[in-house]
Formats: sequence, structure tokens, C-alpha cells
Amino acid sequence: MADKILLANWKMNFVEPKAYFDAFADALGESSLEGVQVGFAVPYTMLASVYAHASSSYTVYAQNVHERESGAFTGEISWPLLESLSISGSLIGHSERRQYFQETDAQVAKKLETTLKRGHQAVVCIGETQAQRERGETFSVLTTQLTPLLPFLSEDANCLLAYEPVWAIGTGLSATSEQAQEVHGWIQDFLQANGKLRGGIPLLYGGSANGGNLEALLRQPDIDGALVGGASLQPLDFAKMALIACSC
Ligand code: 13P
Repeated sequence: MADKILLANWKMNFVEPKAYFDAFADALGESSLEGVQVGFAVPYTMLASVYAHASSSYTVYAQNVHERESGAFTGEISWPLLESLSISGSLIGHSERRQYFQETDAQVAKKLETTLKRGHQAVVCIGETQAQRERGETFSVLTTQLTPLLPFLSEDANCLLAYEPVWAIGTGLSATSEQAQEVHGWIQDFLQANGKLRGGIPLLYGGSANGGNLEALLRQPDIDGALVGGASLQPLDFAKMALIACSC
């Protein structure tokens, strides 16, 4: 496992892959990203092109995958359909999927199960809304989201968890490094209390991560990386973040 993990989530935004990766490589110059796993979760139609233009040391992810392998599910994509594309894994249960497409905790657990069974990496997203945080429900929400995942989270499971507080996503209002660490530490405690190896599952932070706050976040003991939306769309910004991750 790399020391730090930096994943881009391009969401439903078009990025021209060749121009992006040319500019990304230029911005890195001679610097090596050794010790950092860099990956890109991109729209389905860009997966092949991103794989073709990205350095072979970067990983490529879908942003969602159906829990079933085939069938009458119009508009959905399954692992057997994605497997021709040499991708590493998929985001699962992003808060935008939960919020706008009514994905349930049970469905997220099913997607995790299918993804691991087919031999791919799962990046499972969890996090509370602003209203839930204000009501003091952060840890009970996380308990509800994490509990159905527990049967699949063995220490050798090919899985990352991403704590993405919904109130920090796309708002420019990142959690402070202390707020993020408090929750990441709690998640590791929760996993340990449920028989998992502490630190066995890497934990990413997501929510307005950028070149200005990344270092403080990554210097926290239980923050193993970041899942980056808006700031990953500009290759110069994201290259800067990759270099910061390298130095942490
Ligand atoms: P932003 O970095 O744009 O807040 O998005 C975070 C996110 O949702 C990554 O999955």
C-alpha cells in the first residue's frame, strides 16, 4: 500500500484527458510521485481515454457500479461490462448517489460485496449531512452507514473508506484537520471494536480538499489520503496536491 493516496473524482464534468495528463506531467516535471497512489474516478465514457493517457502508475476508477452482474437494469453498468476497460475499482455510495439516487446502506454493502468478489478495489464513501452534524448525530449516522459494511471489511479486503462530510463537499468549507482527524480516529476505533485490525482499512478524507489544506489534513495520524472533487479538475492544482502528498 502506498504511504498516501490521492484520488480525483471528476464527477459529471468533462475533462479532455490528453490535455489534462500532458499538463499534469508538465507540472510534475522531474518530480517522482513515489510513495503516493494517485487515481482518477471519471465518467464512464472517459474511462478508456483516461486509461490510455494517464501514466501507467496511476489508477483509474468508475464512480459507481451496479450490485448485480447483468439483467434488466436500464441505464446501469455492471462489473462484467467494465472489466474490458482495465480499471482498478469504483467509488461506491458517494453521498451524491445516496442523496440524489436514493442509494441505501444495504445497497452500498451489496455493491461492496460484488466489487470485492469480482477482484476490484472499492472506495466506499460515508459521511453526515450538516443537519445531522448540528443535531449531534455524526457518529450514529456513521455507525448506521458502516455496520452493513463490516462483514466485508477484512484487513486484506481491497477496500478504502472515504469520510466525506456532506456539508464540506463542493462548499469550499473543508472540515478542519482536527475535525477530520476526530472522525477518522473514531472510525478506526469503531472498526477495531468490531474485530478489525486498527489501520487495516485506509481512510481518505473528502470535502473541499485543496492545495491549501491538504498538508494539514494528511499530517493527521488517521488520514491516509484524500478524495478530491473540484480541485482535481485543474491539472496544475491536482499536480500541486500530488506533490504535497509526496512530502507528507
Ligand atoms: P469537493 O472536493 O469538490 O468538495 O468534492 C469532494 C467529493 O465529493 C469527492 O468525492
